[in-house]
Amino acid sequence: MHMSLFEVVGWHEGKVRMLDQRLLPDQEIYPEYSSAAEVAQAIRSMVIRGAPAIGCAAAFGVAVEAHRLAQAGVPAHWEEALMPGCQTLLESRPTAINLAWAIARMRQVIAAHPTPADLPARLLAEAEAIHREDIASCRAIGEHGASLIQPPDNRPLTIMTHCNAGALATAGYGTALGVIRSAHLAGKPIRVIACETRPYLQGARLTAWELVKEGIHTTLITDNMAGHLMSQGDIDLVVVGADRIAANGDTANKIGTYSHAVLANRNGIPFLVAAPISTIDLNTLRGSDIPIEERPADEVTHCLNQRIAAIGVHVRNPAFDVTPAELISALITERGIVRVPNREKIRGLFSK
Ligand code: MRU
Repeated sequence: MHMSLFEVVGWHEGKVRMLDQRLLPDQEIYPEYSSAAEVAQAIRSMVIRGAPAIGCAAAFGVAVEAHRLAQAGVPAHWEEALMPGCQTLLESRPTAINLAWAIARMRQVIAAHPTPADLPARLLAEAEAIHREDIASCRAIGEHGASLIQPPDNRPLTIMTHCNAGALATAGYGTALGVIRSAHLAGKPIRVIACETRPYLQGARLTAWELVKEGIHTTLITDNMAGHLMSQGDIDLVVVGADRIAANGDTANKIGTYSHAVLANRNGIPFLVAAPISTIDLNTLRGSDIPIEERPADEVTHCLNQRIAAIGVHVRNPAFDVTPAELISALITERGIVRVPNREKIRGLFSK
């Protein structure tokens, strides 16, 4: 059984505890949060990031808000009392749908609360269920995905990934890195190419940290090296995570993913997306309807607090892009693999 070497988010003595991912790989620090507003700020400022992980954090954020409010006496109208906290959490980041999905689950518990005094405990139980289920989904994604990792007889299979869709981006184990982890644990000879993922460097700082810690052979490249390596036959397969998958299979993921998908298609390399069902948003019909977060300019003008661009230059910083479904060879979910996803096949996943 694979044990995670760190805890991304959890409940600790009445508070929400998270690993501060901004400080990795240098320091492993676990700050604690006591209100929905504090958790929302942690999500906004990237203490925690990755679609399923921010869903879990938001769920714990609602639970901690209920505990905080209950300390001053049980509110007569929980829905009213918790609404501002839920709204602040909801607005913390716009693209990953897992955030809204987790808050909708917490709201169902609030709406159904039979005994007001029990609600904080019930909300904590729901947040813990979301957290537990996410780990189980990642393990199932890993198992399904590993069946697609078939190294040739004479050499290891080289898998490229972008950003961090690992244990750090989920409750644990990871989606794209879950596939890699499961293949590695099954003894399949693999090598990983991690794209550094400018501007926030999730690949260099987080993916490389996770994989090296587990003894998985990992090579770091800058994002603009991917096309060259693909054209040289140095990459066999690409696997990435997702922040929101529209009803037709179009997939939003970290900025740069779309370029990798186009290059993979041009070079005849399979391009896989690994994500839990909670990342699929049937209410978003197509990729162009997915809201794309624009992040602060200093993430582009600076690198690790060092200015690297001319003062006065204009900046764009979209944090995500959309890969059209037709460029996706397979979508790997906890309910199985969908080859070349489309609207019908995606709807089919929800009836399983
Ligand atoms: O801006 P981030 O770091 O939250 O973006 C994360 C990604 O794009 C991940 O690839 C995605 O959330 C999938 S995580 C399993």
